[in-house]
Amino acid sequence: MHQPAITGTGLYTPEHVITNDELVAAFNAYADTFNASHAADIAAGKTDPVPQSNAEFIVAASGIEQRFVYAKDGILDPAVMHPILPPRPMDAPSVMAEIGVDACQQALANAGVSAGDVDLVICAASNHERAYPAIAVEIQELLGAGGFAFDMNVACSSATFGIQAAADMIRAGSAKKALVVNPELCSHHLEWRDRDCHFIFGDVATATLIERADDAQGDHFAIKSTRCGTVFSNNIRNNNGFLRRAQYPEMADRRDMQFMQNGRKVFKEVLPLVSKHIGDHLADEGLQAADLKRLWLHQANKSMNDFIGKKVLGRTPEPGEQPNILQDYANTSSAGSIIAFHKYSADLQTGDTGVICSFGAGYSVGSVIITRC
Ligand code: COA
Repeated sequence: MHQPAITGTGLYTPEHVITNDELVAAFNAYADTFNASHAADIAAGKTDPVPQSNAEFIVAASGIEQRFVYAKDGILDPAVMHPILPPRPMDAPSVMAEIGVDACQQALANAGVSAGDVDLVICAASNHERAYPAIAVEIQELLGAGGFAFDMNVACSSATFGIQAAADMIRAGSAKKALVVNPELCSHHLEWRDRDCHFIFGDVATATLIERADDAQGDHFAIKSTRCGTVFSNNIRNNNGFLRRAQYPEMADRRDMQFMQNGRKVFKEVLPLVSKHIGDHLADEGLQAADLKRLWLHQANKSMNDFIGKKVLGRTPEPGEQPNILQDYANTSSAGSIIAFHKYSADLQTGDTGVICSFGAGYSVGSVIITRC
């Protein structure tokens, strides 16, 4: 058995930013237009008016201050309210592959590894641009990597489930150098016309390179243990999603074609699930909360992370012990905990241990215990 290690990470950040104020102004203009054009039905009680959104509510309820998006056009147009992506010819790279490759190249450069030595690419994301050929195989081709590649989807937990799959293969010897890449184009499966969730998501891509610890060329994080868990719930659901509205405009008004959630229930049900999952994982590895130097949590909601941090550590986390990035990036689905790890792990010392943990639809929870070497 080989010891797997994270030797590099990469982060692609789109160039376009949408602040809460910009988002709310566009949403409220859409709401005014909708309410005016449906005034008779609203007065007759046949249609509910669209309520106004509010930037202060968004920060207070979620901790989100802005989000990055791959395509800003359309999202802030009250007559459109979704991103517009021009169709690409068959021989052009998919958007997910393009942004995924950017993150992968950074991860490889950080680790000093050339793409030709990679023999496994897993594209682990909450939505995929097409069914097949797999985006991962396209990324493998664009990078010039060898071996094999496949896509997987465990919603917001895709990155940690992907890390477990790659780490297990490296342990067993079926792969030597694996890229787990998370191109998350969340803006394309968000219903921007739903006041209760229009602020939640942003776009990004992350990549994690996992190799045999013996092959690491510099500082790295040994993957001590991984654990994944799932429990079925309909409280976060997306019956179709990716780019569907642009392709099939007749489906545009079916609410279930985009991301839907019962946010309050998610909050109540997922928090105990995650806290217990991390606590049990640590205990089974003979670790205690006091052994942890850092928690890199899924980035959906600040209050959720505050709660989990407190529950796992048994006290309020010190500043920096449980870094949040959602104020800048919003919820980027599976990429969130990897962004936090990418940005806030370089200062850890040899022997320091931390947990990367993601959670979300399914429900699903994944945790990765790592130690700086
Ligand atoms: N602007 C102003 N008011 C809003 C609003 C908005 N954009 N969205 C909702 N509200 C209102 C609601 O209508 C409700 O009003 P009421 O009390 O009169 O009924 C009130 O604010 C509270 O709404 P609620 O949905 O209960 O807010 P919340 O505190 O639960 O926060 C979320 C909403 C989505 C931020 C929060 O539930 C959350 O983060 N949940 C978990 C998300 C998660 O992890 N999802 C996984 C996705 S991968």
